[in-house]
Amino acid sequence: MSEPTTIRWEQDETGVVTLVLDDPNQSANTMNQAFKASITAIADRVEAEQDSIRGIVFTSAKKTFFAGGDLKEMIQAGPDDAQFVFEAGMGIKRALRRIETIGKPVVAAINGAALGGGYEIALACHHRIALDAPGSKIGLPEVTLGLLPAGGGVTRTVRLMGIADALLKVLLQGTQYSPARALENGLVHEVATTEKEMLAKARAFIDANPASQQPWDVKGYKIPGGTPSNPKFAANLPAFPANLRKQTAGAPYPAPRNILAAAVEGSQVDFETAQVIEARYFTELVTGAIAKNMMQAFFFDLQAVNAGRSRPQGVEPRPVRKVAVLGAGMMGAGIAYSCARAGMDVVLKDVTAEAAAKGKGYSENLCAKAVSRGRTTQEKADALLARITPTAEAADLAGCDAVIEAVFEDTALKHKVFQEIQDVVEPDALLCSNTSTLPITVLAEGVSRPDDFIGLHFFSPVDKMPLVEIIKGERTGDEALARAFDLVRQINKTPIVVNDSRGFFTSRVIGQFINEGVAMVGEGVDPVSVEQAAAQAGYPAKVLSLMDELTLTLPRKIRNETKRAVEEAGGTWAGHPSDTVIDRMVDEFGRTGRSGGAGFYDYDEDGRRTGLWPGLREHFTREDADVPFDDMKERMLFSEALDTVRCLEENVLTSVADANIGSIMGIGFPAWTGGALQYINGYEGGPAGFLARARELAERYGERFQPPALLVEKAERGEVFTDA
Ligand code: NAI
Repeated sequence: MSEPTTIRWEQDETGVVTLVLDDPNQSANTMNQAFKASITAIADRVEAEQDSIRGIVFTSAKKTFFAGGDLKEMIQAGPDDAQFVFEAGMGIKRALRRIETIGKPVVAAINGAALGGGYEIALACHHRIALDAPGSKIGLPEVTLGLLPAGGGVTRTVRLMGIADALLKVLLQGTQYSPARALENGLVHEVATTEKEMLAKARAFIDANPASQQPWDVKGYKIPGGTPSNPKFAANLPAFPANLRKQTAGAPYPAPRNILAAAVEGSQVDFETAQVIEARYFTELVTGAIAKNMMQAFFFDLQAVNAGRSRPQGVEPRPVRKVAVLGAGMMGAGIAYSCARAGMDVVLKDVTAEAAAKGKGYSENLCAKAVSRGRTTQEKADALLARITPTAEAADLAGCDAVIEAVFEDTALKHKVFQEIQDVVEPDALLCSNTSTLPITVLAEGVSRPDDFIGLHFFSPVDKMPLVEIIKGERTGDEALARAFDLVRQINKTPIVVNDSRGFFTSRVIGQFINEGVAMVGEGVDPVSVEQAAAQAGYPAKVLSLMDELTLTLPRKIRNETKRAVEEAGGTWAGHPSDTVIDRMVDEFGRTGRSGGAGFYDYDEDGRRTGLWPGLREHFTREDADVPFDDMKERMLFSEALDTVRCLEENVLTSVADANIGSIMGIGFPAWTGGALQYINGYEGGPAGFLARARELAERYGERFQPPALLVEKAERGEVFTDA
């Protein structure tokens, strides 16, 4: 019997064993090899000493109950490791099952977040009590990493709540529940408000359920709601794959498919066989490319970005207490809400008191909605709103230690509003602009302290979009960059850092995607296929509908400005094949996009899309158009990935993690790829395979697909894009 190392055994005089999850080598507990050895040894000991045990409580000595699978181990697993991965998973599951079926009451005292493997340990207990600790989340989010819960999670949720609820509430969306909502949805049995209360409740369960009576079901669990062997249930079954296709829009996400299969197949067999089925479907995912991409992006890159990879070292953090938001329009109103929600005092300024109050009204609406949906309390909502002061007076900005400007997109106006307020706010207040296109270096010329000036590019709608692009101007100092980074973290958003350049990173790269889609219309491709290609490539928004949202005059404006800049610098402007399509749409057909009531789509009076404009087929579509569907998808993906490499080459981007996270969270680059640079790493044949394919596309569709030198270099050296 090997000595358990990550689980402490504490037995009291009444025979209650507390199993304290406490990996000495990590800040959080994970299902690593040490845990596998420990839980197996614990199961051995439980069996050997069962006569002296009255009941068992799982809890943890860490802030989180248990963090889940060990992603550092998992991301290394290749196809050759399949058998090893399968055995390791089965080993943990067998041990948990042995403890569950020993005939003693087993309770999970969930003292903090229990996600993935953590919740699976809790599921192997007969009773689950969650502590209502700040930041405590419960659920099985594996699907968001391209995986499935293989620590018994599929098998047990199906047996706990029935196939439909298990899939919809827990498995397919990977929802993370607060303790209260976990209770409402049947994921836990009780919620406690203090650790003491939690442990008392655990003990009460053991007292009330003596081993001799064994009231809990451990054999096979009857499946609520029936199984596919029940004709009524079987009749509904075909709807599941169809719904799944709707959820993924045909994009290559293998995890939902495997989860569905494991749940349905596992429900028709005994518990032990179901666990084997679950492990097989997991092994297939974890050794495949897409789970690796998603683990890289949503765990490793995201962690690196949020931890401050791009934040200058050595600048003391100084939390923002009072922020001035200039301009209470769509963006300003959203920024004010996000800041107030994070506990900052906000002074929201517009030209009139009415406009400012209207901006605050946006927060009032969001708060009312959150209260009515039970997401917050009236008291918290009132406190949030009390922190926002709408005003038209510059004098009210006294004491602000940060300024975020979101007035109209006009350099002279932005200069003017900063001049009005720069001597009113704190003398060292951080000065930020939410411009989406204007060079930060030029805007900084209008303030007395250009080294404190920085771009803070939020995305719309601000309260939902998790990313902020920080833009460093030529004169922005390290102190300002660090403070801007901290401000973004303070409002719980993810900051990527880029250097000032036309369109920064996000706007520039998303432009490539849109241009590519529009160009295909010009080549005579049926617009329905263009939209389908975007959806099947995994883009959350279809390309022509996105163009309509942004308005067709925008690419023209950007084109003219870029052309002027290129020519002024002595270069020649090549243009893009999409240009003529945009020009005809606007000049010949008067279709400027959704705001103009007509674009690539038709709209009804309420601005709702009614369908693609039939004129597209009449004026553009050609029978002899010859663009294979795979090429359509790859042209969109490659155009963005190649431009991301150029951003890295030109020092607009300085971090691979920022590139991956920025592309997924800011501009909808498909999540299955792991981000624009990880897409290249994970492409068949790696960067060399990607390079070869880019050259093919260049030959067939134009020079814009020619690989930049940095990519050629990486491919030749056999390297991948990484920050390491
Ligand atoms: P908006 O038109 O909704 O709001 C602008 C607000 O600024 C209006 O309420 C206006 O009354 C106010 N304003 C004008 N002059 C002012 C002054 N002297 N003092 C105080 N307030 C003044 O515009 P939106 O969409 O909110 O955009 C604002 C900024 O954010 C622009 O620079 C835009 O480029 C940028 N941006 C916009 C995004 C979007 O999706 N709309 C995304 C990211 C950035």
